[in-house]
Amino acid sequence: MARFVVGDLPICLIHADDGRFYAIEDRCSHEDYALSEGELDGHTVECPRHGSRFDIRSGDVLNPPAVSPVVTFAIELNDDAVIVEVTG
Ligand code: FES
Repeated sequence: MARFVVGDLPICLIHADDGRFYAIEDRCSHEDYALSEGELDGHTVECPRHGSRFDIRSGDVLNPPAVSPVVTFAIELNDDAVIVEVTG
């Protein structure tokens, strides 16, 4: 996992065990902590602060204390480039 910041938007880019890339907002929905500092297990990232886990494919929260999902971003591969589609 690697953290990138676009404007004021932190993004966690993930190269998962399935060989695919995923991108989620690098901000835990509980207390704004960097998920890129957490642990990745398959398609699940665990927040290092209080242990909420999120599905990196959907952004869905899997256990408390967080109750809201995190934003996910579409990925496009172009030759050797990984492009994260950020809108807004
Ligand atoms: S800050 Fe992530 S679970 Fe509390």
